[in-house]
Amino acid sequence: MTGCLPATILDAMSEEPRNNSVLKLWRKIPEQVRHLLVPCVIILGGSLVARHFFVPSDFGLYGHYRASSVVQNAEREIKFAGSAACSDCHDAEVAKKKSGYHQGVSCEACHGPAAAHTQDPENVKPYVPRARSHCLLCHEYQSSRPTGFPQVVADSHNPVKPCITCHQPHDPKPPQVPKGCDACHAKIQRVIAVSRHANVQCTICHETDKQHSVLPRQHPPKTPQTRELCGGCHAQDAKSDKEIPRVNMNSHGEKHLCWECHYPHMPEAH
Ligand code: HEC
Ligand code: HEC
Ligand code: HEC
Ligand code: HEC
Ligand code: HEC
Ligand code: HEC
Ligand code: HEC
Ligand code: HEC
Repeated sequence: MTGCLPATILDAMSEEPRNNSVLKLWRKIPEQVRHLLVPCVIILGGSLVARHFFVPSDFGLYGHYRASSVVQNAEREIKFAGSAACSDCHDAEVAKKKSGYHQGVSCEACHGPAAAHTQDPENVKPYVPRARSHCLLCHEYQSSRPTGFPQVVADSHNPVKPCITCHQPHDPKPPQVPKGCDACHAKIQRVIAVSRHANVQCTICHETDKQHSVLPRQHPPKTPQTRELCGGCHAQDAKSDKEIPRVNMNSHGEKHLCWECHYPHMPEAH
């Protein structure tokens, strides 16, 4: 009969006429269960040995927690000084930031940990985040940000230029309040600003009453109605710049309105 070795030995031992109650009990267990019990005992014993070596001795002193981790964390080097520390030497920046939009953003959120700098300001200089990518960590458009949090789409919000050419980082109010059509149609303005129509004024295509800016719904501007409006620049005989691409008004797009195929605020020709 084949079987695992310890069980066989125990079986052999059990043949001896000894009045051992443990062995009697063992013999009562069905053979297939006896075979399973052996690996169970090995795994359980192994786990107890592993627990002895791997669980730190101070685990459980304060409940389900490793007591010495408090001491270990307390021993780590302190890297952040806290905003209050900066005011000793940089009162100009502190004062400026206090009343601006960034009053809730701590100095070290942008300049990085600066405890070493406060100890030795001449030799240790904090990080100065001049790149666009830094501001975008907080301001790039993401639908998950809270409603009303100021966000921009970097590809269309004054691309190329560093943010700090227009926004002072310690008091980042926008350089001017938007006026004109983009005060209310900022989305369209931002789209058109990066399109081939960037230099075509809104009012060339939309005849707009002055009152529209005051009572917009009562005085809606005109939206183009005919193909000829676009033809004014794109017809073959139009008196517009030579660089502007031309189409044959009689055959191109047949009788459809041009903006059934081209989005007028971002025209593309694929
Ligand atoms: C003990 C005085 C002192 C404290 C405290 C201090 N600084 Fe400075 N900081 C200086 C000096 C001095 C300079 C160098 C000025 C210079 O080079 O013109 C400096 C320069 C800087 C610069 C410019 C670095 C550069 O490369 O141009 C930044 C940014 C700065 N500190 C941030 C901070 C921040 C943030 C804190 C608070 C955590 C802080 N400092 C606390 C004294 C201090
Ligand atoms: C929103 C990010 C941001 C925060 C918050 C911020 N800074 Fe700055 N800081 C900058 C940037 C960006 C510059 C570089 C400005 C430049 O080059 O025109 C700068 C420049 C500086 C400089 C160098 C001065 C200079 O004009 O070259 C000092 C000093 C400084 N910051 C200190 C502070 C202190 C102190 C605080 C907290 C009161 C703080 N900053 C908060 C982004 C920040
Ligand atoms: C750590 C996050 C953080 C970083 C980094 C950051 N900002 Fe801000 N910013 C804020 C917060 C918070 C506000 C205030 C939002 C509010 O008032 O609801 C704000 C407000 C602003 C506003 C005001 C918008 C308005 O009209 O309401 C501008 C502009 C701005 N930040 C530009 C910048 C620029 C430029 C940089 C890079 C130098 C920058 N921010 C970096 C968090 C950040
Ligand atoms: C050429 C100048 C210029 C540059 C460069 C610039 N901005 Fe602006 N920013 C403006 C103006 C003007 C406004 C106000 C009008 C508007 O919303 O477009 C503004 C508005 C904002 C607002 C407020 C938007 C809102 O809806 O309240 C934020 C936030 C902002 N900018 C962040 C940035 C960041 C971040 C960068 C760099 C990635 C940057 N800006 C680069 C000029 C600039
Ligand atoms: C004070 C805010 C405001 C200003 C400034 C403004 N608009 Fe409007 N505009 C509106 C509103 C509100 C509507 C109506 C939107 C709606 O009905 O969904 C509108 C609608 C329009 C329409 C659509 C009309 C239609 O029939 O669908 C056009 C085109 C338009 N505006 C162009 C302009 C132009 C061009 C300018 C600049 C000369 C301008 N707007 C300035 C608020 C404004
Ligand atoms: C090249 C001509 C052209 C220019 C330039 C132009 N538009 Fe339009 N716009 C149109 C046409 C055509 C429609 C009608 C689209 C339709 O009915 O599908 C329209 C529709 C609109 C509408 C209503 C529909 C919508 O998309 O919300 C608004 C608002 C509007 N334009 C605002 C503006 C503003 C603001 C500007 C300047 C920043 C501008 N437009 C520049 C041609 C133009
Ligand atoms: C005031 C003159 C003007 C008017 C009116 C005008 N466009 Fe344009 N259009 C331009 C200019 C300028 C360009 C860009 C030429 C260049 O890239 O050199 C252009 C480019 C285009 C392109 C080519 C885009 C590409 O990727 O090659 C299309 C398509 C277009 N316009 C469609 C229209 C439509 C549709 C209308 C009417 C709603 C219209 N345009 C009205 C001036 C105009
Ligand atoms: C049925 C859809 C359709 C209509 C309607 C239409 N177009 Fe186009 N347009 C296209 C397609 C597709 C292309 C790109 C292929 C081509 O050049 O024929 C194009 C290309 C263009 C170009 C670029 C040509 C070049 O050489 O780069 C201009 C400009 C243009 N269209 C203007 C217009 C104007 C103006 C109208 C209205 C009079 C108009 N389109 C109506 C589909 C249309």
